Amino acid sequence: MTLLSDPRGLSPIRDGIGEPDFGTPKSTSDVTVTLTIDGSPVSVPAGTSIMRAAGESGCSIPKLCATDSLEPFGSCRMCLVEIDGRKGTPASCTTPVEEGMVVRTQTAKLGKLRRNVMELYISDHPLECLTCAANGDCELQDMAGVVGLRDVRYGYEGENHLGAVKDQSNPYFDFDSSKCIVCNRCVRACDQIQGTLALTIEGRGFNSKVSPGGLNFLSSECVSCGACVQACPTGTLEEKSVIELGMPTRTVQTTCAYCGVGCTFNAELRGDELVRMVPAKTGGANEGHSCVKGRFAFGYASHKDRILSPMIREKITDEWTEVSWDEAITYAATKFKEIQAKYGDNSIGGVTSSRCTNEEIFTVQKMIRTAFGNNNVDTCARVCHSPTGFGLSSTFGTSAGTQDFKSVGKSDVILLIGANPTDAHPVFGSRLKRRLRQGAKLIVVDPRKIDLVESAHVKADHHLQLQPGTNVAVINALAHVIATEGLADKNFIAERCDNEAFDRWMKFISLPENSPEVVEAQSGVPAEELRKAARLFATSGNGAIYYGLGVTEHSQGSTMVMGMANLAMATGNIGREGVGVNPLRGQNNVQGSCDMGSFPHELSGYRHVSDDAVREQFETLWDVKLLPEPGMRIPNMLDNAISGEFRGMFVHGEDIAQSDPNTKHVMAALEAMDLVVVQDLFINETAKFAHVFFPGTSFLEKDGTFTNAERRINRVRPVMAPKNGKQEWQIISELATAMGYPMHYDNAAQIMDEIAAITPTFKNVSFELLDRVGSLQWPVNDAAPQGTPIMHVNGFVRGKGLFVETPFVPTEERANRKFPLLLTTGRILSQYNVGAQTRRTANSTWHQEDVLEIHESDAQMRGIVDGQKVAISSRIGETVMRAEVSARVPAGVVYTTFHHPISGANVITTEFSDWATNCPEYKVTAVEIRPADSSQDATNSLDDVLMKA
Ligand code: SF4
Ligand code: SF4
Ligand code: SF4
Ligand code: FES
Repeated sequence: MTLLSDPRGLSPIRDGIGEPDFGTPKSTSDVTVTLTIDGSPVSVPAGTSIMRAAGESGCSIPKLCATDSLEPFGSCRMCLVEIDGRKGTPASCTTPVEEGMVVRTQTAKLGKLRRNVMELYISDHPLECLTCAANGDCELQDMAGVVGLRDVRYGYEGENHLGAVKDQSNPYFDFDSSKCIVCNRCVRACDQIQGTLALTIEGRGFNSKVSPGGLNFLSSECVSCGACVQACPTGTLEEKSVIELGMPTRTVQTTCAYCGVGCTFNAELRGDELVRMVPAKTGGANEGHSCVKGRFAFGYASHKDRILSPMIREKITDEWTEVSWDEAITYAATKFKEIQAKYGDNSIGGVTSSRCTNEEIFTVQKMIRTAFGNNNVDTCARVCHSPTGFGLSSTFGTSAGTQDFKSVGKSDVILLIGANPTDAHPVFGSRLKRRLRQGAKLIVVDPRKIDLVESAHVKADHHLQLQPGTNVAVINALAHVIATEGLADKNFIAERCDNEAFDRWMKFISLPENSPEVVEAQSGVPAEELRKAARLFATSGNGAIYYGLGVTEHSQGSTMVMGMANLAMATGNIGREGVGVNPLRGQNNVQGSCDMGSFPHELSGYRHVSDDAVREQFETLWDVKLLPEPGMRIPNMLDNAISGEFRGMFVHGEDIAQSDPNTKHVMAALEAMDLVVVQDLFINETAKFAHVFFPGTSFLEKDGTFTNAERRINRVRPVMAPKNGKQEWQIISELATAMGYPMHYDNAAQIMDEIAAITPTFKNVSFELLDRVGSLQWPVNDAAPQGTPIMHVNGFVRGKGLFVETPFVPTEERANRKFPLLLTTGRILSQYNVGAQTRRTANSTWHQEDVLEIHESDAQMRGIVDGQKVAISSRIGETVMRAEVSARVPAGVVYTTFHHPISGANVITTEFSDWATNCPEYKVTAVEIRPADSSQDATNSLDDVLMKA
């Protein structure tokens, strides 16, 4: 068999697919250097490598160990060049350009040297290009052609690695070390891009080989981010999907639909079949990186469980009947109208989904405000980040984070509160780790010892391991130290903030009740540790705050957001790179669902429905009268369903029966309604209570936009036609029309045009602009036509920054004799939210069930051993899980994830919620744990669990 290659170094089947690789990272220097390469003048920023300068000028130099996502390494010797006045043939990847340098990249001498190097590689390489999965996307193959290798003088008989055993343990990629050229790209990718340091080179010289440590990839530290697979220049690390389906032939660029990072991907297809997702280097949020979910866990979109036809049923105990779209839409519309005729206009409402596009969400809230004729629209963002909107708009004037993700690269000290980015926002987590390895300081505020407290090459300077529910006390203590020790930024406060409010706040925060010594007793965090952390934050340069649901999902969630805003203002950490207050949003489009007017009191762009001028604009555009009073929030709709006044609900892509607190109450409310319409991919827990099921589209079929945690509006492009036959905004428009409000769009771009026309922060946004520039961070308007990476640069959006007093009020949910432990919840890397998607992929390899982490002393006291099934009871209900005795949680605190419906973690969460926004208090539930009875089984169905609740 021969080594196949295209003499141009290009593979014919892959022309136009993939992104250019300039070999070494781009230099950001402002200084320009001019040199001559192969007779032509080339000007590049100082610090650029000769390899990159040549590549950018259209003259590419052969390479193997270099790739532009990694620092140069200089091991393969393929990229040699000649430089006038210099001895030898330096590697162009490791040699920076110099003014006046004269470089030759193609000479007979260089050609010979490169062929010699290639000969050595190929003499120890399986010659099976024709049957190799990498055929057509292999740099070794390409380079053999580029250097004109025709034969191997050494023969193929000598000592070699051809018999190396393949490691196929990872569910998504294989490792065939017989094809490895030990260029170190995978090892460096794992170190530099992902920051997991799972790979090493074992052995020396001929015996050196890449090793994941341990037995194989699956049992190693590897988190399956795929960065090494992407970096591998050969078929050594290869996606199983490519091995099975063949090399892709076309690309569509789109956005991940999992977390709020919003990674841009090139979806690579072969015909109509999606072969792999390759993170795009041009992606503003991810810059070529991804996590295991976005890169590999897309199989749910074609899972056999997906419902593709509309279905109806009279009663929830009846079997479903498949019907035509017309029949389903007419049925739902007629029933909604009947309910309104009988029980009044206010008797129906709906929920939008943060999983869906801005365009879909906008049409749902529009349908409710126009066709339903009320403001009974709420969003699942209610249960995650509604306090962010309230807290940041009260203090700064905008309901969104202040920075772009890149900004963390300029932070000197990072205060991470109630967030676990390496699991929940992995690509941001990798950025953060990169910055920490460069020397930034880290303060972690979390009841649990998350990975960032201590992992490979990362150690937090302070871990403030507080009792769940005491965030506000701790943030006040940090601010108290800053205020009373003269560490506040007086100039920033005087110029940028409301000084009267600041004076009031100073008095409040300086009170002894906010001192670390008092807070130690409330939170369990030693006073000295609080003082040291506060001083570190105030005096280390750029201080940035990042936070997650561990802040918002509390009865004082909104207070805590304001407390963090106070701290940022007090230390002058707002309005430039490296600082800010940054929510790590849970779902892909939490920001967008809030922006689009999903809350009952707000129209798009966070404008109150009671504002006559704003309402008038919408009334004119939509040709309808709108109500000036806010509608019902989700909890009100559910309560009123139980009391019989609320009778019909449209649930858009959200599983409230699993994701909302106090499952028993939610289910009772759903059961009480006359009509529940669910639009989703799968029959989820909520759909079990539905009378109409509209099949939805997966992100691979959607056309629209998502807005990520940094306000970045990313395009979601259809990779394939909707499997259900309709875009979701079409279904919604047809339902609105059937209810008597004509709604029609020809395409999703028209919906964005309408959003832009009526929403000041989106004024200049259009699909055409997004397609041209890639992505934009709102506000995008005449003052900021290219968007706004950093907010509040020259002044706060509200004018002066507002300090707000934030007294600590302990939650009513307390540990007591009956329920002595505090349960808190979180996420794991491989699974996502209620698991509807990830549980339908090979990601379940890593997390087959939710487990309960419990401290050794609490376990021992209760006679519980690791791996044992335990019953967890709160005053709301009881469920069963497997215990994991863990040093991650302190005594008195237990922790679980909520990815599996059978464990029904929300069966036990309580009705308490944030005082301002009703965001549920998921993070604090008083519980007791005991060994489960033999009759109790974690594999009970949720219904069974509820029966016991
Ligand atoms: S990795 Fe595969 S395609 Fe590349 S040179 Fe080796 S056998 Fe050929
Ligand atoms: S998949 Fe990611 S974590 Fe695993 S070895 Fe490769 S780079 Fe490292
Ligand atoms: S980090 Fe978030 S957005 Fe990026 S690939 Fe992972 S889940 Fe998707
Ligand atoms: S690409 Fe320069 S030494 Fe390998």
